[in-house]
Amino acid sequence: MGPGELMGVFREDLLAGRVAFVTGGATGIGNGIAHALGRHGAKVAIASRKRENLEHAAAALDAAGIECWFDTCDIREPEQVERVVAGIVEQFGAIDILVNNAAGNFPAPMRKISYNGFRAIVGIDLLGTYNVSKAVFEAWMKDHGGGVVNISAPFEGMGVALQSHVAAAKAGVDSLTRTCAVEWGPLGIRVNAIAPGEIAQTEGVARFGDAVAGSTGGNNPLGFAGATEDIANVVLFLVSDAARFVSGQVFCVDGASGVDAFKMKVEPPSED
Ligand code: COA
Repeated sequence: MGPGELMGVFREDLLAGRVAFVTGGATGIGNGIAHALGRHGAKVAIASRKRENLEHAAAALDAAGIECWFDTCDIREPEQVERVVAGIVEQFGAIDILVNNAAGNFPAPMRKISYNGFRAIVGIDLLGTYNVSKAVFEAWMKDHGGGVVNISAPFEGMGVALQSHVAAAKAGVDSLTRTCAVEWGPLGIRVNAIAPGEIAQTEGVARFGDAVAGSTGGNNPLGFAGATEDIANVVLFLVSDAARFVSGQVFCVDGASGVDAFKMKVEPPSED
């Protein structure tokens, strides 16, 4: 089944009447998620730092018949986040679904990452997730419930060369996922995380293609690189009522790469 066919899996009106906010929704995985949510009936708000990217993405969402709103935002800045969240509630009257997708990354050994570089990544990935979650909680979800999905990384319990900043920040995101699920569960808010493996044609893969020896191009037990639709479909499940009893979990969506301990070559079964 190719990526193009993956979108017919769920009912088209799965999210009819809902409002979704996707940070970093102008490009890459976030943009795939924004389209998937919109194609299943949600009104979609996106935010990122670059207006040009947002305008381009909004035109494409519009062309796909998806009602869309956008604003620029550096999620490291709580005042900007609060402004954007208020704008979404004013525009669409709700925020039922939040996808904390915006993230920063660059591959570098820890000793070569400057203080400011480490702070930039933790600021975007962890503090940004905190800032947006808190603002959406206060502005809407605490009184109406909702679904939150944090986009994490498949690093839990591992040492990850060239990723000291991201791995530390995403460990924090995973922890925040569990804590928010527990604190906010009684208010009808479910919080989960997705840790994507290799997703083709994303900035992450472009940046890491050279750094990760032999691990791009679908080097996992399923034998292919994921598509943005593979992440988007898990988001759709997690924010739908089908997942009403699912909260506080981090789902690796990585073709079983993370549990493949020694990356041994396994021969396919022979005829005899
Ligand atoms: N290698 C080493 N250090 C880097 C770097 C790189 N490739 N890119 C940025 N930095 C450092 C900068 O040198 C700076 O530190 P300094 O002031 O000590 O020099 C610090 O990070 C902040 O950089 P700045 O240019 O002010 O950027 P920013 O705060 O706007 O954010 C990024 C920079 C890298 C976080 C951001 O541009 C980014 O993440 N872009 C990629 C998004 C992406 O790949 N997403 C997919 C994630 S898998």
